[in-house]
Amino acid sequence: MLRKLTRTDHLIQQFDTVLRTLVPHAAQPSRPSPAADVRDGEMDDLERQHAEGLMRINHTGEVCAQALYQGQGLTAKLADTREQMEQAAQEEIDHLAWCDARIEELNGRTSYLNPLFYTASFGLGAAAGAIGERVSLGFVAATEEQVGKHLDAHLDKLPIGDRRSRAVLEQMREDEAHHERWALEAGGSRFPFPVKFGMKLMSKVMTKSVYKL
Ligand SMILES: [Fe+2]
Ligand SMILES: [Fe+2]
Repeated sequence: MLRKLTRTDHLIQQFDTVLRTLVPHAAQPSRPSPAADVRDGEMDDLERQHAEGLMRINHTGEVCAQALYQGQGLTAKLADTREQMEQAAQEEIDHLAWCDARIEELNGRTSYLNPLFYTASFGLGAAAGAIGERVSLGFVAATEEQVGKHLDAHLDKLPIGDRRSRAVLEQMREDEAHHERWALEAGGSRFPFPVKFGMKLMSKVMTKSVYKL
């Protein structure tokens, strides 16, 4: 017989999720990496280093996405959208794991600042979830829109030879566009320009610091 989960069970579950997000190589993808059958072209040391910095930023972005979904999961009622929200969160875990694996291939490491960005994003997600479903979904849509633009920029900046990172980012781009569409169709509010501008500033701080740290 299934036991009803207690408050302590939920806390342990939550803690387990935090560790799976923050500990390198702990996230388990549900789909194989889009880079699985892709061969890299030529890259020199500088190009590899640059690719590593870019993929570190993308990995931290996915840590933030996890925190955002987890924070919302804690406070939002999500009467009709929980299933889709969980499906999107699972796809974000794939992104996290693919970026992590690619960073390792490039002999790099994930960012030291991840716990900081995780905490901030978790708080924002929980706050949006507590305000209400439309804001919560609107926040998902605005974030995904921004991530999409950011991925486009990174696809331009990646070294030509870095075909494996490119394959990962292209699939992520497709998934994020799908998350954005779903969140808007499910009734998410369109955020006004000043809120989007604030989010853009925050992401600038993240990308500048994480490229090196
Ligand atoms: Fe993602
Ligand atoms: Fe997404």
